[in-house]
Amino acid sequence: MIKDNVRDALNAQMIREFFSSYLYLSMSAYFESINLRGFAAWLKVQAKEEMEHGMKFYGYLVDQGARITLKPIEGPKTEWGSPLDAFEHVLAHEQKVTAHIHDAVDLAAAEKDYATFNFLQWFIDEQVEEEQNAGDIVYRLKLASVEKGVALLFMMDHHLGKRGAK
Ligand code: FEO
Repeated sequence: MIKDNVRDALNAQMIREFFSSYLYLSMSAYFESINLRGFAAWLKVQAKEEMEHGMKFYGYLVDQGARITLKPIEGPKTEWGSPLDAFEHVLAHEQKVTAHIHDAVDLAAAEKDYATFNFLQWFIDEQVEEEQNAGDIVYRLKLASVEKGVALLFMMDHHLGKRGAK
């Protein structure tokens, strides 16, 4: 049986994952508005993945017999100054998510909740990938702004658009 404090931490993280989905969909809409459809498609896929992350927490809490409490999700930012500004926001956001996941792992360990500790390992690995993806895009956008300008930006847009948005 999951302890109340662990349940509350996982419930809060579930809501954060749903917020991440909302944030990235908002960012996708921003890229649509500036006609960078590849970036928009990439972020739409990311939004879907974040919803799936939230549902992993939901499913785990159900499996543990815990009562889930859905709460209001704050409105995400809707405008960014540039593609680089947007992806620096993605990277900073993912770094915050990583810190929250690590806090949840610390709590599970302190409570000797080995099932939750185990469940969270997937998220630890996932966060490494999430930060790496965002960091790579930030790096390339910085290059695009100082070296090859618009041509590289459009190449990136084309490349990111292949991620498989539906
Ligand atoms: Fe589900 Fe991007 O963290």
